[in-house]
Amino acid sequence: MAKLWGGRFNESANELLDRFNASITFDKNLWEEDIQGSIEHAKMLYSIGLLEIGELDYILAGLKEISEEIKRGNFSFSLDNEDIHTAIESALSEKIGQAGKKLHTARSRNDQVALDFMLYCRKANQALQKILSTLIQTLLNIAKEHTQTLMPGMTHLQHAQPISFGYHLVAWCIGFKRDIQRLRASFTLSNECPLGSAAMAGTPYKNERENLARSLGFESASINAMDSVAQRDFALDLLYDIAMIMLHISRLAEELIIWSSYEFGFVQFADNFATGSSIMPQKKNPDVAELLRGKCGRAYGNLMSLLTTMKSLPFAYNKDMQEDKEAVFDSVQTAYMCLEILNESLKTLHINKANMRKMCEVGHLVATDLADFLVQEYSVAFREAHHITGICVRYAEEKGLDLSKVDIADLESILIRELGDTITINKNKLASALSLEDSMQRRNSLGGCSSDEVKRQIHAIETWLDI
Ligand code: ARG
Repeated sequence: MAKLWGGRFNESANELLDRFNASITFDKNLWEEDIQGSIEHAKMLYSIGLLEIGELDYILAGLKEISEEIKRGNFSFSLDNEDIHTAIESALSEKIGQAGKKLHTARSRNDQVALDFMLYCRKANQALQKILSTLIQTLLNIAKEHTQTLMPGMTHLQHAQPISFGYHLVAWCIGFKRDIQRLRASFTLSNECPLGSAAMAGTPYKNERENLARSLGFESASINAMDSVAQRDFALDLLYDIAMIMLHISRLAEELIIWSSYEFGFVQFADNFATGSSIMPQKKNPDVAELLRGKCGRAYGNLMSLLTTMKSLPFAYNKDMQEDKEAVFDSVQTAYMCLEILNESLKTLHINKANMRKMCEVGHLVATDLADFLVQEYSVAFREAHHITGICVRYAEEKGLDLSKVDIADLESILIRELGDTITINKNKLASALSLEDSMQRRNSLGGCSSDEVKRQIHAIETWLDI
């Protein structure tokens, strides 16, 4: 089959070259964006007198027909056509003859591919924002049920302070909120339309690029034709945004995996989102969470791959840039699917409140509270209070008890011994200092874990999401 660019060649291409050079096997993904770009480009050509009205009508009807054929699965994406731009243009010319051959006036595949890919990335960006906000809403709905559910808050994966499960879920949400903000920022950086830049130097036609840009949903036309066809910043931004989403998903997945172990027993995936073992009949595995954790690797790899492809490329377009698409398609599909399944599997996650509560009773979670009590009630310097509390913890350890379970009278005598017998201990306040519930509820500072504060945080996120 004759090539679009075959005019200056005597020999036809080696079959190996055709396979190596072609991108049709994957850039067929961009067919919708390609047709959208061609429709607006044709209208622009008509508006500046480069197409007759009849020709425009033929082009629009032909493109519509092609679009329907593709949707029905009747379109042949053949290697002969090299890429999606060539495939659609050739099919159009075959259908409508001469008028089809005029469509490529004042554009090149270089600005065409930049446009198609940018449109794809913008669409993906918005779809990801939408599913992220659905996920946040799911997490917040669960959080609302658990603003009083005690669980051990951890640092270094060691018991630290009592918090609520709801508080932990809100913490997850904030990362996803930033992901949406990051996507929004990237979207504004992809607001300039490259179409009309042509090969790299603009065109001799009075192509109305500003109108064209707006008809395709952009804010304006790009400033410099050379940069427009040479840059893939918008794709890299999206790949980074996705790498961050996947990073957040992987941390959340890791916690779900740990929490669903026997050792923790905080959560369990519902049967329809859990998997079994081929040999051990008793097993119920958190494969979903493990895959969510594992797929982070691809997202980082895809980002690194395109960063490396783009490094040191001379201006303007180079064929190396054809390597941009598969990485982005993979990251977008992966992230979308991960967010979708994470959202669904969270809705039916079993939450074992009793185990969470039980695990609050080991590890002396209220130690900080005891130190704070000494500071607040007896004006003891925090460093000294820390030391005295340490003595109480040692006593609890000797007794084989959690600090929250040590007899108040025993603690009272340690405190009197350390602080001097002129002080009297307010037993109620001491008991409150050692209470897990009170500990969590006392942390009512802005951003803290008390139930009221968590409700305020949930409300703040919902207001931001405009729910
Ligand atoms: N298939 C190419 C790509 O994906 C389209 C642009 C080709 N331009 C060119 N002058 N060969 O990058």
